[in-house]
Amino acid sequence: MNFKQTAQADFKDTSNVVIGFVGKEEDALSPLPTDLASQVSQWRTAKWVSPKEGSVTPLLRGEGSPVMLIGVGDTLHLTENKLKKAATAIASVLKQSQQKSVTVLLDNLKVRDRTQNWVVTKLVEWTLTGAYNYDTTKSEKNTQYTTEHFLLAGDGEFEEAIRHGKALAHGVNVARELGNLPPNICTPTYLAEQAISLADRYSPIHTEILEEAEMEELGMGAFMAVSKGSDQPGKMIIMHYKGAGDDVKPHVLVGKGLTFDTGGISLKPAAKMDEMKYDMCGAASVFGTMSTLAELQPKINVVAIVAAAENMPSARATRPGDVVTSMSGKTVEILNTDAEGRLVLCDALTYAERYKPQSVVNMATLTGAIVVGLGHHPIGLYSNDEGLQKDLVAAGQKAWDRAWPMPLWDDYREEMESPYADLRNIGQGPAGGSITAAIYLSEFTKDYTWAHLDIAGAAWTSAKSGATGRPVGLLTEYLLSKVG
Ligand code: BES
Ligand code: MN
Ligand code: ZN
Repeated sequence: MNFKQTAQADFKDTSNVVIGFVGKEEDALSPLPTDLASQVSQWRTAKWVSPKEGSVTPLLRGEGSPVMLIGVGDTLHLTENKLKKAATAIASVLKQSQQKSVTVLLDNLKVRDRTQNWVVTKLVEWTLTGAYNYDTTKSEKNTQYTTEHFLLAGDGEFEEAIRHGKALAHGVNVARELGNLPPNICTPTYLAEQAISLADRYSPIHTEILEEAEMEELGMGAFMAVSKGSDQPGKMIIMHYKGAGDDVKPHVLVGKGLTFDTGGISLKPAAKMDEMKYDMCGAASVFGTMSTLAELQPKINVVAIVAAAENMPSARATRPGDVVTSMSGKTVEILNTDAEGRLVLCDALTYAERYKPQSVVNMATLTGAIVVGLGHHPIGLYSNDEGLQKDLVAAGQKAWDRAWPMPLWDDYREEMESPYADLRNIGQGPAGGSITAAIYLSEFTKDYTWAHLDIAGAAWTSAKSGATGRPVGLLTEYLLSKVG
């Protein structure tokens, strides 16, 4: 689909669907030709046109373009969430329409404290993510939208905003697709193949894969403690995005890529265990962000590390009480094999030191506790650096993919002490479970500026609704803010 700006909508072309917006307030209506506007005002009084949020009213006309009015609630001055709902409604029109082009009327459509370029970027992104539906492993495929041209009618220069929105949507949909794939298909090996094909497709990306033998050699005993219980070989996947000179230090992204988390010997209960296929959504967000970067080609360097493994119970699996040595040299008493994300991550985080990074941000569906604490809307944000924390909050605000700061106080540190090792892999109890997990990670990230995003609540909301593709938006805006 081709996105373009146009000054004026064509209301005559019958192969073009015009989409406008309507709210409850008297003047909350997109600009329409006078005859249509007066007709609509009568229909509004008769309640044939619904201003209800997300509703779509087709206007019956004798001739000319079909017109659809999307309800936005009160006024055309929207909130971010209302714009998202409107974009989802546009996507539903796209899915049904057989017409060649769609024109969206931008005039009067505003979001408080946001520029028109922001509105265009998000409208494009959310329309394209709204049009995504998983069907890869279904025999019956979803009908593909056939619209060729997507026109944005309004004054301004939107070319850059459109490009940005398309690239974001692409990355978000890449992350959602990986998250939604079943765990018998999306294995660590599958993820490694995706990284190789990303490098084949985009010249600024290069991929290296560390196999288990190499990880053993590097001393990644924490990663191996998780991976060795599975017949699926674990992989440490490293992707380099090169947009700047060799002397420019990279920003590093690290993703938790548990393609399935049974809990291991500390087995999880059966209910909703299927949802643990989403335990690679941190990794999925890394793939999504790299795809977006490859399209936007900003002048920065990024290294992405995905710690991909499967957590299974088996005769070779780690026992509660085992002590292992991580790559950092620190020994860890594994008291619960279900706290495996921090084990694969701590070795990936130690590995990241070699890049002398400007910053390291890791994404992980790390704890059920963050879902209890924050629900499904914000991402839990932990950082050892105030500046980085501010940057990430701002990036999340810009992307409308928001993160909320959590404490990394040393008060929690003594919970992680073990009589048998340098530290244990769980706190003393469930209290503050997301925080103690972050404290564990912080023991391995003392040498650089670091943040941890606990995305267990944000990466998916239910098996039915599927993966959200978060935090591709936040990460993209963060990295773009570092172009200099
Ligand atoms: N992948 C889970 C976290 C999770 C649980 C995400 C439920 C989303 C929904 C993680 O590996 C895990 O099992 N964490 C444990 C840690 C505990 C054993 C200290 C948890 O949160 O229960
Ligand atoms: Mn677990
Ligand atoms: Zn897990």
